[in-house]
Amino acid sequence: MPYYFYSIFFFFFVLSDAETNNKSQLYDQEHTVLLNLKQHLHPFLNQWVPPNSSHCSWPGIDCTDGSVTKLNFSNVNINKTIPPFICDLKNLTFIDFQLNYFTGEFPKFLYDCPKLEYLDVSQNNFVGSIPNDVDRLANLRFLNLAANYFSGDIPASIGRLKELRNFQLYFRRFNDIIPDEIGDLSNLELLDLRLNTNLPPTQLPASFTKLKKVKTFRMKSMNLTGKIPESIGEMVSLEELDLSENGLNGQIPSSLFALKNLSILYLWNNRLSGEIPTEIEALNLTVLDVSENNLTGKIPDGLGKLKKLTGLSLQMNQLSGEIPESLAHLPALVDLEVFENRLSGALPPYFGRYSPLETFQVATNRLTGNLPEDLCYNGKLVGVSAYDNDLSGELSESLGSCNNSLKYLLLQNNSFSGKIPAGLWTSYHLVSLTINSNKFTGELPQRLAWNLSSLIISNNQFSVEYQ
Ligand SMILES: *[C@@H]1O[C@H](CO)[C@@H](O)[C@H](O)[C@H]1NC(C)=O
Ligand SMILES: *[C@@H]1O[C@H](CO)[C@@H](O)[C@H](O)[C@H]1NC(C)=O
Ligand SMILES: *[C@@H]1O[C@H](CO)[C@@H](O)[C@H](O)[C@H]1NC(C)=O
Ligand SMILES: *[C@@H]1O[C@H](CO)[C@@H](O)[C@H](O)[C@H]1NC(C)=O
Ligand SMILES: *[C@@H]1O[C@H](CO)[C@@H](O)[C@H](O)[C@H]1NC(C)=O
Ligand SMILES: *[C@@H]1O[C@H](CO)[C@@H](O)[C@H](O)[C@H]1NC(C)=O
Ligand SMILES: *[C@@H]1O[C@H](CO)[C@@H](O)[C@H](O)[C@H]1NC(C)=O
Ligand SMILES: *[C@@H]1O[C@H](CO)[C@@H](O)[C@H](O)[C@H]1NC(C)=O
Ligand SMILES: *[C@@H]1O[C@H](CO)[C@@H](O)[C@H](O)[C@H]1NC(C)=O
Ligand SMILES: *[C@@H]1O[C@H](CO)[C@@H](O)[C@H](O)[C@H]1NC(C)=O
Ligand SMILES: *[C@@H]1O[C@H](CO)[C@@H](O)[C@H](O)[C@H]1NC(C)=O
Ligand SMILES: *[C@@H]1O[C@H](CO)[C@@H](O)[C@H](O)[C@H]1NC(C)=O
Repeated sequence: MPYYFYSIFFFFFVLSDAETNNKSQLYDQEHTVLLNLKQHLHPFLNQWVPPNSSHCSWPGIDCTDGSVTKLNFSNVNINKTIPPFICDLKNLTFIDFQLNYFTGEFPKFLYDCPKLEYLDVSQNNFVGSIPNDVDRLANLRFLNLAANYFSGDIPASIGRLKELRNFQLYFRRFNDIIPDEIGDLSNLELLDLRLNTNLPPTQLPASFTKLKKVKTFRMKSMNLTGKIPESIGEMVSLEELDLSENGLNGQIPSSLFALKNLSILYLWNNRLSGEIPTEIEALNLTVLDVSENNLTGKIPDGLGKLKKLTGLSLQMNQLSGEIPESLAHLPALVDLEVFENRLSGALPPYFGRYSPLETFQVATNRLTGNLPEDLCYNGKLVGVSAYDNDLSGELSESLGSCNNSLKYLLLQNNSFSGKIPAGLWTSYHLVSLTINSNKFTGELPQRLAWNLSSLIISNNQFSVEYQ
């Protein structure tokens, strides 16, 4: 019996000792790799000082169970190559080298890091092509290659990185089309290919609508042409869609306004025409910008259902009819921009009353009637531009007590009349007051606001009191 116990005890002792030994072997091995790394990247990483602190506490290193798993050297100005022996750190899962001046070609030797899940080499000086066998980084969940000098095509094999959640390649000058195979990335949650401005005119690949898990889809400034397919509504997880600054034409698909989780929709500066869809069920929208297109018809009354909407930008289109009353009741509205359209009729009276309104831009339309009275009701109003309309009546006294926020008031070329509200001339933050070509009366003030840098009051009926 005693012998039996002893042997079990002995067995455990040996095992745990071996484990400790292996651990410290692994530690020593990784320590050597790190010192080589430091030497390769000299004079960077000189805060890495052996021997008395564990290398796990050195800046930029993270360990799991005493073994190096993460390297984060972001934004430390390194201008060397990545050393090819970096994968001697066999447990490496995470590399963040963004915002440096790393040089060289695509680091194919990273294929030897079997556990690599996260690779960010964005904003460096890498050159050459993205290799066709990039799918050998088979466990990648995050890949950011943006803002380097990579050239050539995006290889189709990228579609075989089945674990990929997040793929970013913005701000590059690729000269060939985007591969359809990106649509095979069935786990993708974020795709950012913005600002690939050298692309030839390209259609939005139809395969992208297979990306059922994508929440963020950024395709701004990519020379996209053709229509936005109605099937884009199949991307049911979308929260942010940015297709701005392209040459997209045709109508805005009504399916977009059925996307329940959509929060940000940027379609500005395209050639979209037709009417804004009237069925609005995308109730999570916070920002809707369809400005600088060729949209016609009315502003849909249904936009008033968007209780979370903070920014509505419809400017520089050919929208007509009245501004729906419902918009004035949007409880979260901060910025309204509808200038340069063909809107007519009176402005709904309650703008500003029910929301923390900051900017109210309705200039260059055919609007009539009064300026809403309560624009500064919640004390946040920064700017009003309502010039080049046919607005009339007196300015409300409340504009004179917008002392805490108002910076600009641009009302020229209307038919406003009556006196300027008392406090307005000296409103504390006022920078620009442009009210020429109206029918204002009353006396000019003795004092003006501190910071007023532009004051245009010509072509009115002001009187001056000579003393
Ligand atoms: C320790 O490492 C040796 C080889 O280096 C290996 O054969 C052995 O299985 C390892 N033991 C443990 C407990 O990991
Ligand atoms: C090394 O150890 C000494 C003595 O324990 C300590 O004073 C010093 O701060 C340590 N240096 C580093 C870099 O950890
Ligand atoms: C690191 O690698 C060793 C040897 O391959 C393995 O035993 C250990 O579990 C790994 N540790 C981590 C945190 O992955
Ligand atoms: C890497 O470190 C920087 C600053 O030290 C930090 O801002 C960044 O979030 C880190 N990267 C990741 C992915 O955690
Ligand atoms: C790399 O950076 C170091 C330190 O900032 C600098 O002295 C060296 O000139 C740089 N080398 C190149 C090739 O830019
Ligand atoms: C779009 O493609 C055309 C034809 O190749 C090219 O002339 C134009 O410069 C491209 N536009 C942009 C913004 O890259
Ligand atoms: C919408 O968002 C919610 C909350 O984040 C999430 O639970 C749900 O799965 C999302 N719906 C879709 C279709 O992605
Ligand atoms: C969208 O709105 C619903 C209802 O307000 C909410 O349950 C859901 O979580 C929202 N989705 C997101 C992504 O916020
Ligand atoms: C808008 O449409 C008009 C006529 O239909 C056309 O002349 C103009 O070029 C279009 N503008 C844009 C930005 O597409
Ligand atoms: C005044 O506004 C009207 C209506 O928008 C516009 O047609 C006209 O050109 C503007 N006049 C000046 C001098 O800007
Ligand atoms: C306007 O605001 C300034 C700074 O907060 C304050 O000193 C001034 O008394 C205010 N004027 C009026 C008329 O409320
Ligand atoms: C006046 O302008 C300066 C410079 O733009 C700014 O720092 C300051 O806060 C402004 N003062 C007021 C009262 O708005």
